[in-house]
Formats: sequence, structure tokens, C-alpha cells
Amino acid sequence: MHTQPETYNDKIVRQFTAMTVVWGIVGMAVGVLIAAQLYWPALNFDVPWLSYGRLRPLHTNAVIFAFGGCALFATSYHVVQRTCHVRLAFDKLAAFTFWGWQAVIVAAAITLPMGLTQGKEYAELEWPIDILITLVWVSYAVVFFGTIVKRRVKHIYVANWFYGAFIITIALLHIVNNMAMPVGLGKSYSLYTGAVDAMAQWWYGHNAVGFFLTAGFLGMMYYFVPKQANRPVYSYRLSIVHFWALIAVYMWAGPHHLQYTALPDWAQSLGMVFSLVLLAPSWGGAINGILTLSGAWDKLRTDPILKFLIVAVSFYMIATFEGPMMSIKTVNSLSHYTDWTVGHVHAGALGWVAMISIGAVYAMLPRLLGQTQMHSVKAIDLHFWLHTVGVVFYIVSMWIAGVMQGLMWRATNPDGTLTYSFVEALNATYPYYLGRLLGGLIVLSGMVVMAWNVIRTWQQARDLAPTPVMPPDAAAAHASTLS
Ligand code: HEM
Ligand code: HEM
Repeated sequence: MHTQPETYNDKIVRQFTAMTVVWGIVGMAVGVLIAAQLYWPALNFDVPWLSYGRLRPLHTNAVIFAFGGCALFATSYHVVQRTCHVRLAFDKLAAFTFWGWQAVIVAAAITLPMGLTQGKEYAELEWPIDILITLVWVSYAVVFFGTIVKRRVKHIYVANWFYGAFIITIALLHIVNNMAMPVGLGKSYSLYTGAVDAMAQWWYGHNAVGFFLTAGFLGMMYYFVPKQANRPVYSYRLSIVHFWALIAVYMWAGPHHLQYTALPDWAQSLGMVFSLVLLAPSWGGAINGILTLSGAWDKLRTDPILKFLIVAVSFYMIATFEGPMMSIKTVNSLSHYTDWTVGHVHAGALGWVAMISIGAVYAMLPRLLGQTQMHSVKAIDLHFWLHTVGVVFYIVSMWIAGVMQGLMWRATNPDGTLTYSFVEALNATYPYYLGRLLGGLIVLSGMVVMAWNVIRTWQQARDLAPTPVMPPDAAAAHASTLS
């Protein structure tokens, strides 16, 4: 009797990849709109659901959870299958994670403009949606770890450790921070109050940065950089040290979001110290990613996908140098409340998160469609330059605006009165808001180029025959380091 060879579940990866591009465009378009509103407030048209306060969380949810989330689902499902040499576990449950996650996103896109919110940053969604998120996330864990359990190789590749830590930690954060008493379908009260509520929120918020916006994307780095450069990771030993050090330190750094608040002073200092320590594993890991290119630097000249991946890691280094500096209390007294924070956020979000995701999509998509490369490599290069120039415009505008605001707010005359009124500082900020808007528009135009390239590549792919799972011994004999 002839048995069919086992194949990879590439369909689920294709679905999440397509939605990564769609939600990337939607989320960034909302970002451009709110950036424009900060320059021309009349752009809210006096319509409540177009007001800044409602669209801002729509932007953050769309870019982090819809764009970033779909990229994480897509790449983790791709990487876990290829490195474990086995088909993804539980096809139907995996399909549920796709449709369930899209339902969460649509529910967010409806309720946030309606003004339904828990009022906790990055955890705005009300309790019925939170329950759906929990169901999807538990299914995600079952699919991911189920695949690890049935792997054909003994070793669990380091990228899977990062994805695994991301999945477990997000479950924990989501459940603890969203504990609330519902009083109706669209309203609930947090179980925490006062300073405890603030601490729970920023324990969540910072670890959302550490595990949603960092750990999972480091999983991407550890798979796609070696794969694209066709070289082994610079130091596998360092990647293990990187993993444990990052996991151990991140959890304690949350109070740096609450410097000079009602939080006990020792907790603020603890947050600062752990943030400073965090520089070491962050840079150790990033250097490990960049040095993977040793001996293959020339590829940076010709391969725009590698450019996306390596520049992403460079922005990661910028954000993880800046973050520890901003956590120092005296520096934070200047940077907090200013646009410096927003600049830091987007160095991480647009520089690191978006660029590594875009690079990973370009690297992965042709393989999912039975092609050797994207429809147009020139268009990838164009996208790279549009994105890089746009991000630089964005973050440089915010850095200058932020430091200027901080200095203007604290300037005093010899008699102790303030040198500048608030509105003078706001006036001085306007040109930089225009600079940010321009940067955002350039980034968004790059995403449109990407969408065109993705559609053309998809149109070229007539044969979507499932790819057979590569047996581990064949992979070992393969010239490439990762299958
Ligand atoms: C075209 C690209 C983008 C533009 C124009 C843009 C614009 C903006 C604007 C105007 C704000 C509000 C700032 C304020 O309230 O002062 C914001 C906030 C934010 N954006 Fe973006 N954004 C973009 C892409 C992204 C991406 C890709 C991510 C994440 C992956 C992201 C994550 C965030 C976060 C986390 C905040 C909240 C920052 C804070 O509270 O300090 N953005 N963005
Ligand atoms: C070693 C690593 C890092 C440290 C120690 C760090 C530290 C900080 C500090 C001190 C703040 C300002 C808090 C405040 O004054 O309110 C901040 C804000 C923020 N950082 Fe980082 N950062 C790091 C890396 C990153 C990365 C890689 C990303 C993203 C992709 C990121 C995303 C954010 C976000 C979204 C906020 C704004 C939170 C808010 O107020 O809404 N950070 N970070």
C-alpha cells in the first residue's frame, strides 16, 4: 500500500501572512491619520468615533496585535514546522486560531471607535473580547507546543524557545491584567485599584513590550537571519545565554513606566536597575544576530531582504540602548510625557518590529507559494529605502521635539516662574509633527509597494501543491544550516 508523504500546513501560514500585510496597511494608515490630526485637529470632523482619543488605541491595537500578531502567528507556525520536521499539530484548532484572531481584530476595530474601553493602555478591549482572546491564545499554545511534542528531532531550535516564551508569557499577562468585574456587555471594573492597578498595568505593559514586541520577533531573527544569509547562527551558546538572561530580567523592569509616581520609591529604583541590566542581554542577542553575517557581509549589498533583517536588528539596538537610558530617573524626569517616548516607541515598533516582520514575510512568502523569489526584487529594495527613510524622519522628529519639550517645560526664570507657557512648547512642536507625518506617509507608501509585490507573487503561483515534510537526515545533509 502506498501512503501519502506528510506535508507541511502552509495554508495557515499563507493566511496569516496575507493578513499581516493587510493589517499592516490598515494600522499604519490609522497611524498616519492620527499623526495628521495632531497637526490639523479639525481632521476629527467633530465625529466622536473619529476623535483622536478613540483612534489612537485603534492604531496601537491594529499595529501591535493585528499586524505584529499575524506576523508572529505566521512565522511561528512556519518555523516550528520546518525546524521540528513535522506537520503543524491539530489542523482544525490551527484554523480556529486564524479565524478567532481575525474576529478579535474586527471586534476591536468596531468597539474602540465606539469608545468602549477598559482604559488600560494596550489592554483596552472589554471583557467579552478578552475571553475570545484567551480561547484563541490557549488554542495557539496547544497547536505550537503540540507540534514541539511530536517533533522528529531531539533538539528544540532556539527560535522555538523564544516563540514558546512569548506564547506562555502573553497568556499570563493577559489573564492577570484583565481580571475585572463585568457590569454589562461593554463595561467592566478592574479588580485592582490605585497604585496596585498602576503596577499590574505596567507589569503587563512592559512585558507586552518584552514578550509581544521583542521575544517573538527575536524568534524571527534567529530563524530568518541565518536562513537568509545561509550561515549558522554566530554563537549558538550565546543564543541560549541570551534567552535565559532576557527572560529572567524583563519581568522586573516594569516600574520604569511609573517613575516619580505613587509607587514605592524602592520599586521605581528596582525597575531602573533591572532596565539598565537589560542592556546586556539585549545587545548580546542583537550582536549574535548581526555577526551571523560574518564572512557574508557582501550579501548586504545585493539582498534587500537581508537589509531589512539586519537594519531591523540595528534599530533594536538603538531602542534597547535608549530604553535603559530613559529608565534612569533623572533622564526620565526629562523624557516622560514628551514625544521622546513616542520616538523611542517607534524606533522599536517601526524600526525593529515592522522591519523584521517585513523581511520575514519577503523571505517566507515565495516558499509558501512554490516560487523561488518575490515577483520583484527591485520593489523590495524600493520598499527598504522608503521604510528606512520614513522611520528616520519619524524618530528624529520625535527626538528633537521630545527633548525640546522637556527642556521648555522645566525652564524657569530667576524669580522661579516658568519661562514658557505650555502652549508655547506646543507651538514649537508643530513643525516636528509635520516631519513625523511625512515620515509616516513614506513608510505607508512602502507598505503599498509591498502589497503590490505580494499580490503579483501570489498571481504567479499557480501550483499550490503541499510541500512534503523534509526528513531530519535529509536536512542534515542539506548544504543550508536550517531546513
Ligand atoms: C506609518 C506608520 C506609523 C505612524 C504614522 C504612527 C503614528 C503614531 C502616532 C501619531 C501615535 C500617537 C502619538 C501620541 O499620542 O503622541 C502613535 C502611537 C503609537 N504607535 Fe504608531 N505609528 C506608525 C506605526 C506604528 C507601528 C508599526 C507600531 C507597532 C508595531 C506602532 C506602535 C505605536 C505605539 C505602541 C504607540 C503608543 C506610544 C505611547 O503610548 O508612548 N506604530 N503612532
Ligand atoms: C532594554 C530594553 C528597553 C528598555 C529598558 C526600555 C525602557 C523604556 C522606558 C524607560 C520607557 C519610558 C517610560 C515612560 O517614561 O513612560 C519606555 C517606553 C516604551 N517602550 Fe521601551 N525600552 C526598551 C526597549 C523597547 C523596545 C525594543 C520596544 C519596542 C518595540 C519598546 C517599546 C516601548 C513602548 C511601546 C513604550 C511606551 C509605553 C507607553 O507609555 O505607552 N521599548 N521604554
